[in-house]
Amino acid sequence: SGRNVHDLLELAITTAGAAGTMLIDKRPADLRVAHTKSSPTDVVTEMDQAAERLIIDRIRASRPADAFLGEESGAAAGASGVRWIIDPIDGTVNYLYGLPDWAVSIAAEVDGEVVAGVVAVPTRGELYTAARGEGAYLVRRDGSTEKLQCNAGVPLERALIATGFGYSAQRRAHQAEVLLGVLPRVRDIRRAGSAAVDLCSVAAGRVDGYFERGPHEWDIAAGGLIVREAGGSIGGLNGRPASVEMTISAGPGLYEALHDLLVPLSPERD
Ligand code: IPD
Repeated sequence: SGRNVHDLLELAITTAGAAGTMLIDKRPADLRVAHTKSSPTDVVTEMDQAAERLIIDRIRASRPADAFLGEESGAAAGASGVRWIIDPIDGTVNYLYGLPDWAVSIAAEVDGEVVAGVVAVPTRGELYTAARGEGAYLVRRDGSTEKLQCNAGVPLERALIATGFGYSAQRRAHQAEVLLGVLPRVRDIRRAGSAAVDLCSVAAGRVDGYFERGPHEWDIAAGGLIVREAGGSIGGLNGRPASVEMTISAGPGLYEALHDLLVPLSPERD
């Protein structure tokens, strides 16, 4: 119990670390071979579920009254006013192929507001953390720590923009439509394969901005706080919050330009 932000952040850090270690240690060695055969996605789903179970069990052990929203297990109620938003593997296709950009994402909300966020990228030995009002940090495997700062004032035509694609065919068609309008207007596009990693890349200034039609709450809850604490913004279209309709993130200046570019390009629904 308790709502102390540092306690919540500390628990998120140790839990994300434990899940990341498990996911690396227990990743079946033949996953890359398996993905050309039978149904490798089931193996990944099992790893996803095991990681989420580990995370929820660990948090529940010390905080039995908290609520949860997990990609795999859905919503679980709790009476403490604290809710954990969990994506055990964000970037599951990268995990399947053995590509490095997948993350464990854990956010803690108090009374509906995210106050602590952790994105662990175990293969890169990178841990991104933020507590509300206290800045965002990258902690490397060797213990070195860097305060994160978004790039500011980047003009649209010189912006390197990350994006992602959801899984449904219809959503992809709409995403392609939006991308068609964005590509000629920016420096270039990157698709790393994890929305959580994309948001951390915005926070670290490794890309200038990010947009995606389609990420879910668990993909962006922790990364969203990390971006904001690094001086950036995250939101949706026309003042709406970031959602599956559209998530936009960038530093000051570019955020507004990217938003204004995306509004007329975005289909009404999918
Ligand atoms: C996906 C990744 C991807 C994004 C998709 C997400 P998952 O999450 O974040 O980058 O483009 O929209 O669904 O399924 O790997 O947890």
